[in-house]
Formats: sequence, C-alpha cells, structure tokens
Amino acid sequence: MAAVSTDPADYWQRPGLTGRILEALAAAGKDVDHLTVDDLAASDQFHGGGRPATLALASLAGLDQPTDQPRRVLDVGGGLGGPARTLASRFGCLVTVVDLTESYVEAARELTARVGLADRVTHLVGDALRLDDPALGLERGSFDLVWTQNAGMNIADKEALYAGFHRMLRPGGTLTFQEPMAGTNSPPHYPLMWAADPSLSFLRSPTEMRALVAAAGFDEQAWELVTESAAGANAPPAPPHAIQRLIMGDHLTAVQAAGRRNLDEDRISTVHAVFTRR
Ligand SMILES: C[S@@+](CC[C@H](N)C(=O)[O-])C[C@H]1O[C@@H](n2cnc3c(N)ncnc32)[C@H](O)[C@@H]1O
Repeated sequence: MAAVSTDPADYWQRPGLTGRILEALAAAGKDVDHLTVDDLAASDQFHGGGRPATLALASLAGLDQPTDQPRRVLDVGGGLGGPARTLASRFGCLVTVVDLTESYVEAARELTARVGLADRVTHLVGDALRLDDPALGLERGSFDLVWTQNAGMNIADKEALYAGFHRMLRPGGTLTFQEPMAGTNSPPHYPLMWAADPSLSFLRSPTEMRALVAAAGFDEQAWELVTESAAGANAPPAPPHAIQRLIMGDHLTAVQAAGRRNLDEDRISTVHAVFTRR
C-alpha cells in the first residue's frame, strides 16, 4: 500500500496549475492577455466565501481607512494570491505572500504579472512555521499587517505559528485572519477541502484559539463567527473556472457534501478576527 503523505505541500500540489487556470479563464470568456483582478476572482480566492469574504475581512481590519504610507502586508499561506492582489489593488498595500506549495506560487506570480501588480505583490515559496528562514529574506518587525486566510488548518503547532506572526509584525501592528476552527461537535466529516482524513487537519475550538492568540502577545480587536457565509451554504454552484473545482476536480462533490453535513451538525466553525500586536 502506498504511504500516505502528511506534508501539506504534497496534498495541495498541482503540477501544471498555471496553464490549467489560464485555459479555464479563456474558456470562461476572459481575455487572458488582458486580465484584470476582477476577472480572476473565481479562480484565485481559495477560501470559503470567496472575494466577498476577503473584502469583509479587509474592512474589519480597517484597510479601507486612509494611511500616509502604503501598508506593508505579509500574507501567510497566501496560495494563488487572490487576497494579496485584492489588498494591493483596492487598498494600495505592498504585499509579500509566503506559501508552501510551489505550483501555487508559480501560478500566483504569473497571475500577478498579468494584472500588472508585480511591483506591489511578491510571492515566495516558504513555510509559515519558518518565516524567519534567512532564505526568505523577511525582516522581523517589518510588517504593519499579517494576513492569513484559510491556511492554518494544516498546521498542528499553532503556538509556533502565532509566535512567528508576532515576530514579523512591528509593535502595534495588526494580525488579521479567516480561520476554520472546530465546531461544537467533533470530529468533522471528511473529506474536508484541506484534508482527506484527520492526518492533515488540525483544528482547535474558537475558545482555545482566542486564548492561544492572546497568549502569543496579541490584543483582540474583533472576533466574528462567519461559519455560514464561509461554508457558502447559499452560494451558486462553482463555475468550471472556480479554483475549488480546478484543484479538487471530481472530488469536489464529496468535499461539498461533507461541508454541508459539517455545517448542519456544527462540526466546523469559521472566524474572522483582528488583533493588535503588543
Ligand atoms: C485553502 S488555501 C488558501 C490560500 C489563500 N490564503 C486564499 O485564501 O486564497 C491553503 C493554503 O495554505 C498553504 N499552506 C498550508 N500549510 C502551509 C505552511 N505550513 N506554510 C505555508 N503555506 C501553507 C497551502 O499551500 C495553500 O496554498
């Protein structure tokens, strides 16, 4: 029997993803030689709730408030870069995206270049648990905002994850996240979007997460349960160029069925939160 990998990059990796995204966008009638950030929304926002969730989280974090200088943002587990390009194009942020999965980073770079944002959004292959790896070249305390959306579910050592976020932020900087957490009932039904079985899913309850983030050196500013909108209970069916469909293929039907059961039985919750670094 083949060994089951517990490396999240193996789980997410999709060789040739860039070409498949561009083909799907072309088939959906987009001009791939003149793409806009809006054209990409279905194909690059890889989290429950899509682009509306990104905009809601940005608003919760106050990104719609003017600043003298562009905000320096670190997007951890930023995937294909949809949230990063939104923060750059809508709010003028300078975004560094770190993601473990090479094929996503490759696709992210191509999409960022095609929408003309390469001067504002940088994509790096790296591990959220090793943000101060010298190879990444990230300076401690140099970011105004750490942003992370649906990326911590694969990571067991959340204490180390949030300690790393703390190191990267300047004092008074902002931590903003959308994070799937355990529901009132457990375990969740599988397959989840981020794990075919329990070996890759590490969820803690909202109560545990709140305490953990505070203990990592953050003061809570906002905490909202967004489980229903993140589960997309009332969302239209994903079009062929939806990133969930491109990544999961035929498997998406089983993922969506489990997702509906998890929502009905309160087995997963999703939180939008904003914290300030002490
Ligand atoms: C569901 S996708 C979310 C992508 C993006 N945040 C978004 O909302 O569009 C989860 C991402 O987390 C990344 N990821 C998982 N574990 C990681 C780790 N240890 N370090 C960096 N990225 C990780 C995966 O490669 C994947 O791109």
